[in-house]
Amino acid sequence: MSNISSMSHDELLSIKKELQAEYDRFVKAGKKLDISRGKPGNDQLILSKELLNLPGDAPTFVDGVEAANYGVLEGLPSARKLFSEILGTKPEQVFIGGSSSLSMMFDTISKAFTHGLLHSEKPWSKLDKVKFICVVPGYDRHFAICESFGIEMIPVLLLDDGPDMNMVYELIKDESVRGMWCVPKYSNPDGVSYSDETVRKIAAMKPAAKDFLLMWDNAYCIHEFDGEFVPFLDILSECEKHGNADMVFEFASTSKITFPGAGISCFACSEANMAYMKKIISKQIISYDKLNQLRHMLFFKNREGIMAHMKKLGAVLKPKFDVVLNALNEEIGPHHIANWYKPKGGYFVSLYTMAGTAKRISELCKGAGLVITPAGATYPYGNDPNDSHLRIAPSYPPIDELKEAMKLLCCCIKLAAVEKLLAE
Ligand SMILES: Cc1ncc(COP(=O)(O)O)c(C=O)c1O
Repeated sequence: MSNISSMSHDELLSIKKELQAEYDRFVKAGKKLDISRGKPGNDQLILSKELLNLPGDAPTFVDGVEAANYGVLEGLPSARKLFSEILGTKPEQVFIGGSSSLSMMFDTISKAFTHGLLHSEKPWSKLDKVKFICVVPGYDRHFAICESFGIEMIPVLLLDDGPDMNMVYELIKDESVRGMWCVPKYSNPDGVSYSDETVRKIAAMKPAAKDFLLMWDNAYCIHEFDGEFVPFLDILSECEKHGNADMVFEFASTSKITFPGAGISCFACSEANMAYMKKIISKQIISYDKLNQLRHMLFFKNREGIMAHMKKLGAVLKPKFDVVLNALNEEIGPHHIANWYKPKGGYFVSLYTMAGTAKRISELCKGAGLVITPAGATYPYGNDPNDSHLRIAPSYPPIDELKEAMKLLCCCIKLAAVEKLLAE
């Protein structure tokens, strides 16, 4: 097949017939395929199965704490130490919570609305307007949290080295801009990591809002699947250097390391924020599930243990990302109708199709039994201004299903491009 983007009208008509016939064969085959969510595959989950036998007969009294009982709201000292070593913070800046970092993010914003943050003059619920900077494309569930609190979302483009900081610096002059979402390493969905220079610019922000909340979601901080671990700056100390120690809350979890929904999660923040938050959280819960924290500590032991585990996970993930990238290179590359990032970590491949075709591709995929993240989901209010972005999550399906899914997706990308060119 020659290059779709430079075909004549007649060539497009004939290629459309071929692609339609191929698409109809997929519909007829009636497969059920899913590349919609960044869920670990069963081949990853199995690597943590030993966790299920822990603590077994091992003592549950560790670090001077009985893990099987109430107490120690901020979590087991060893678990705080482990996350501090991963994030580059101090153990006393880390709070280990339940099984979901997203829930802690929701909770942090919720507390801003109900109680206010450390430097709030009043709770956000008493403000006329609360706006957040949302780096796009971004994580749909961050945007869903904003929507549920009625926070107005302002999209700021993610460039190759992080958010467009010129725009961010302009926006934070407005006092009603109270926060910003960031996924600094292997961002969901582009897989882009912020440069040190950009991280420093973020840490040095001087927002008009005195209680500005930097939501630093480091969900993929050690999630390389291709190559060696890439170090990153500790956002807490960077903020502190610029007099912004209390501006940031950082989040992480073992959801993509052990078991999503049954791992452990944390937030990290300044010690002043920690004291403030602990006061409120202590009204909400007596203590989190320290047995699960212990289970994870017995399983990993230390940072080296968790990094060795990440290597095993990476070895499972890499071939799946290769399937996606090879299919795009071979099937779509020659036609110049899309481009995409080639991530070395994280959980997604971000695909930019011909403007005005992403929704149509989504619809075509659905019609043939392939679930992909809905077009637009990675933008606030589901609004991708170019209707061109699609997110591919390669981790969940087995390789043979992923190959099928990619064949179908590539067929849909080409068909939608041909339809669009013919309509023009
Ligand atoms: C950027 C990002 N943050 C958070 C989460 C969810 O984390 P958790 O399972 O710890 O709630 C995900 C899951 O895909 C994610 O991509």
